[in-house]
Amino acid sequence: MSITGPRGTYDILPDESRKWQWLEGLLRETAELYGFREIRTPVFEHTELFQRGVGETTDIVQKEMYTFADKARRSLTLRPEGTASCARAFIQHQIYNQPQPVKWYYLGPMFRYDRPQAGRYRQFHQFGAEVFGSNNPFVDAELIVMMVDMVFKAGLPQYDLRLNSVGCETCRPSYRQALVSFLQPIKKELCQDCRKRIELNPLRVLDCKNQGCREAVTGLPRVADYWCNDCRQHFTAVTQSLDRYEVSYTVDDRLVRGLDYYTNTAFELLVPGIGAQNAIGGGGRYNHLVREVGGPDVPGIGFAIGLERLLSGVEEAGALPVFSPDIEVYIAVTGREYEASADQALRELRRAGLKADRDYMGRSLKAQMRQADRLQVPVVVLIGEDEATRGTYTIRRMQTKEQYEIGQADLIDEVRKILVK
Ligand code: HAM
Repeated sequence: MSITGPRGTYDILPDESRKWQWLEGLLRETAELYGFREIRTPVFEHTELFQRGVGETTDIVQKEMYTFADKARRSLTLRPEGTASCARAFIQHQIYNQPQPVKWYYLGPMFRYDRPQAGRYRQFHQFGAEVFGSNNPFVDAELIVMMVDMVFKAGLPQYDLRLNSVGCETCRPSYRQALVSFLQPIKKELCQDCRKRIELNPLRVLDCKNQGCREAVTGLPRVADYWCNDCRQHFTAVTQSLDRYEVSYTVDDRLVRGLDYYTNTAFELLVPGIGAQNAIGGGGRYNHLVREVGGPDVPGIGFAIGLERLLSGVEEAGALPVFSPDIEVYIAVTGREYEASADQALRELRRAGLKADRDYMGRSLKAQMRQADRLQVPVVVLIGEDEATRGTYTIRRMQTKEQYEIGQADLIDEVRKILVK
């Protein structure tokens, strides 16, 4: 039996990888416009980092981690997300001693053992951005604006930005208590998971997808009624700043995120038309994450975009750009005795920075031309007996079918002229 890739993973074949390169390039460029610099962290970390960072009671830590013991019996975990790793690196390299805020971005695979479905994979890719060291609400707004900007530039002008504040250490305990008091009497109506959540993490009940839970919790206390003054002011400042940026949003007081580190601002970006998994990205403030994983009490905020979901939204909207052909010049020969001349032309073209290739299968001239067509090559260079004796090349412009001879020395100039390069 042949071996296939593991469930929930997929290959990005070359036709697809062009799209990824384009999307990743766009995200990198945009992040750099906003002053972010790239960080690359390992794809596995000590399990404890995620237990402490993401939170023991979250679905991610309870059910979804790829955890294994290495040969020295250390417990390691394939990263389910990137924020905890950034916080770990921020502490490990004492970045808190550098001028703040520190703005980082990352791109790469994340791993979650979840039931695969459209838009949900076990290995998926995120673009993430994190800002450490500032509690300024303008930072919250800037990050949200950057996320919207990225999705807009990728070709999705329609989005639904949900915004909330999940409170802080001062006000969340009373909100939590109010939730527990509300939920205890209706415990029987909730799913098994939510019954456990009442004690462990009652906020999570708010975004349970179970229909029964959704109905049971209508009328649940609203977090906004429990915000302390600081939280209220912070949230107002974020919304005012977004208004100035003319970024529209919906305040959604049911929005709590699936990770435990959030404080204050929480947000999610939904895009219509990509199925049930329509959250393209999400994030929020995590003012005590750095402390939780062993560093000083430095505030932070960030978001991550799921690249599979963003790309499928872009494709759905027909917003993919037209990519230039992979190969710009194809060398065709009328017989194998001209292969050495073809190599010489190839070498010259590649040295000049032109993407060039030739046939290695001994195809007939006709079949070589068909191959050039398949590759959508704009220029073919023909080499046969006449060209070899005269020291020339025949150029064929594939779009116009025009064909003419040039001196060998004019090859690069001629090709560049055709490609306008
Ligand atoms: P998250 O909401 O868990 O947040 O993930 C962010 C995005 O990653 C989701 O909106 C979704 O697009 C994508 N995603 C998550 N799980 C999957 C999956 N199984 N398959 C495909 N795509 C998926 C975080 O990970 C936080 N670290 C974001 C953050 C950064 N908060 C602060 N800083």
